[in-house]
Amino acid sequence: MVEIEYRKARIKLGYTDLVYEPAEDSVLLADAALKEAKAGIHILEIGTGSGFVSAVLLANLKDIRLIATEINPHAARCAKINGVEVIRTDLFKALKPRSLETRFDLILFNPPYLPTSREEKVPGWLNYAFDGGTSGRETLDRFLNEVRDYLKPGGEILVLISSITGLDPVKEKMEKLGFAVDVVTRKKISFEELMVVRGKLL
Ligand SMILES: C[S@@+](CC[C@H](N)C(=O)[O-])C[C@H]1O[C@@H](n2cnc3c(N)ncnc32)[C@H](O)[C@@H]1O
Repeated sequence: MVEIEYRKARIKLGYTDLVYEPAEDSVLLADAALKEAKAGIHILEIGTGSGFVSAVLLANLKDIRLIATEINPHAARCAKINGVEVIRTDLFKALKPRSLETRFDLILFNPPYLPTSREEKVPGWLNYAFDGGTSGRETLDRFLNEVRDYLKPGGEILVLISSITGLDPVKEKMEKLGFAVDVVTRKKISFEELMVVRGKLL
């Protein structure tokens, strides 16, 4: 298994035709989450993939509690190998809303964001890493519709988005759902700009 090292975390990667290989988006989210997280907090990562972002947090922060979810069984297995506690489920499905144990201070998501038509789908489980539906925002929109139920009062979310799907519709939706919104980091890479958007529950 190929292993990479980033900020004290050593991460074993799964086969790249089965599990999303961490890239600039993963690094941007991990760095933003490291800045945001404080010792002692309870963190949830949705769609952990190889476990890269969660493993970086676990390797660098003291006393955090962290769990993750992932829909792709190959990715869930890979994240477990990397020391991440993972529940294999669709977004929040296996978590009980309104239970104290499933209320978090910080929730992270690097969602599939590519606008994808039926013909553009990638075969197998890896499609979940890329396929954002025709708008590119279908999975992110489902996440945003549900996330409030899993946050503690004053809790925050960090989501990775791309200029391909656009900041304005995401910001508008988050504000309607009761979040104060700002962009905490941006990075231009070839044809797109990646952004980490923070939503703080008002
Ligand atoms: C762009 S990849 C990011 C992976 C990893 N968090 C990273 O930053 O390297 C998106 C991940 O979300 C997972 N995913 C997509 N839809 C999901 C859903 N409905 N529930 C849980 N995980 C999902 C995919 O399988 C994939 O592993």
